[in-house]
Amino acid sequence: MEKIILGNWKMNPQEKEEAVGLAKEIVEEVDKGIIGIAPPLVFLSDVSDVVSDSSVMLGAQDVFWEDKGSHTGEVSIDELKSLGVEFVIIGHSERRGLGESDKEVNKKVKQVLENDLKAVLCVGEPENMRNKGVDVAKRFVSGELEKGLEGVSMNDDSLIIAYEPIWAISTQSEGPASVDDVLEMISFIKRYLKINDLDGGTPVLYGGSINRDNAGEFLRTKEIDGVLVGRASLEADEFLKIIKSA
Ligand code: PGA
Repeated sequence: MEKIILGNWKMNPQEKEEAVGLAKEIVEEVDKGIIGIAPPLVFLSDVSDVVSDSSVMLGAQDVFWEDKGSHTGEVSIDELKSLGVEFVIIGHSERRGLGESDKEVNKKVKQVLENDLKAVLCVGEPENMRNKGVDVAKRFVSGELEKGLEGVSMNDDSLIIAYEPIWAISTQSEGPASVDDVLEMISFIKRYLKINDLDGGTPVLYGGSINRDNAGEFLRTKEIDGVLVGRASLEADEFLKIIKSA
């Protein structure tokens, strides 16, 4: 399977010119592969102009589950589509940390899939669960999958799972999870999808402190279908090196 490399810019950068500049540097160097960037909502339109004629996919970091109407501050799937958005990150641990529930995550996943965009569903255990052992971590992750995918019967490549153990995300951690730990959990997730008839070859990515130095060992591992990159996607040079290591 071709590796998928997605950049999650989170709430960065602060200036439109910087966002456009970063997107331009990436677009200039990328002409193949499954590469995507998810800028902040306010810069989607400008970044869309930059990536529209390129192979780089545009992503959003969130979406609302209702089609339209009186939902102050939210953004609809059609609004995202009108800007050329192709994938939406859903259930990132930073959003769950602000109170987003599995039920809300599930409604968002369904909204994205029903509208033929790619849904990147993030799952991953917190540190205190991992400390209780790998079986507890697996139970936590399968619980997120079960609730996040309730009523989903997709059998195509619109669904992407990102395994992001919270304790390995760069703001919480000195480094990524070990390749062995990631491999074990990703194999578990793939088995879970298969048993539950959700596997149409669903790619499962890893995210958490990926950078130019460690990306290669994850991307060379067959079962790891790609990476979701936070901090290291904010510098074109760094992100491009990660892409090259695939
Ligand atoms: P990080 O973020 O690469 O900065 O650890 C990953 C993520 O939160 O998606």
